[in-house]
Amino acid sequence: PVTPKPVVLIAEELSPATVEALGPDFEIRSTDGADRAQLLGALADVDAVLVRSATRMDAEAISAAPKLKVIARAGVGLDNVDIKAATQAGVMVVNAPTSNIISAAELTVGHILSLARNIPQASAALKAGEWKRSKYSGTELYEKNIGIIGLGRIGALVAARLQGFGTQILAYDPYVTSARAAQLNVRLVTLDELLRESDFVTIHMPKTPETVGMLGADAFALMKDTAYVVNVARGGLVDEVALHTALEEGRIAGAGVDVFVQEPSTDLPFFAHDSVVVTPHLGASTEEAQEKAGVSVAKSVRLALAGELVPDA
Ligand code: MLT
Repeated sequence: PVTPKPVVLIAEELSPATVEALGPDFEIRSTDGADRAQLLGALADVDAVLVRSATRMDAEAISAAPKLKVIARAGVGLDNVDIKAATQAGVMVVNAPTSNIISAAELTVGHILSLARNIPQASAALKAGEWKRSKYSGTELYEKNIGIIGLGRIGALVAARLQGFGTQILAYDPYVTSARAAQLNVRLVTLDELLRESDFVTIHMPKTPETVGMLGADAFALMKDTAYVVNVARGGLVDEVALHTALEEGRIAGAGVDVFVQEPSTDLPFFAHDSVVVTPHLGASTEEAQEKAGVSVAKSVRLALAGELVPDA
């Protein structure tokens, strides 16, 4: 009798390189992980599941998958995976922690430049027939203070890229040593100092109970009224309601936002401000990042299902 191949469920659109890297040893299926009923049904007899950020692998999903051995997150953040429930069920969780960091850092720079020069707004206006040169006059990044909250892999790449513009980088990160900050040519400051002094504040933290709402009313009150805030990390790190109020009251100049508390979100109140630039969770959406993420998790799934050790990336 032929032994059935282990089943790998792909629950979100991944790079074609993922399937190639998995090779011929698995039965590969796909489902729409954002469709809860479809997901729970599809998990019934799978050995591994591959997800991005739209699939919630919580305790319920994990218990719907009695044969599951590995959950693979084709990206960095693990906030959509219940690690505790997975561990209790003996399910290994792997991610691709360096796959999309360059893409995330580059999108951050894109948001900062968009805010400084009103590129999306001016483009939309011009396409609508309006030639508005003075309305969309902007600011230079040169000699401005950029505040980076979270100087991890992505934050450090953002710092290096923005230094090319002649900016000064301030960072708040309780886990970074002064030696590391000096090596990156970054001034480590307290969160309050960062908020008071920065012209652009960008957050690069994971989503945890401690970081949710980290940029809220108190933070906006400390910021310059000419400052911009950027969130390409996780929805909710910047409080969406407080952001709307801060913009209404003119406490800050604008915001660049790629991630939202609820995704998809297409009509949040703060979208109404012309000084807000939004993108639909595109931080990792490049060909390069998706290929790296897909290949990296495919390799980890192969090792995990073969009962071998999965090395840290
Ligand atoms: C991540 O955590 O890596 C990003 O959110 C990317 C993604 O969702 O694919």
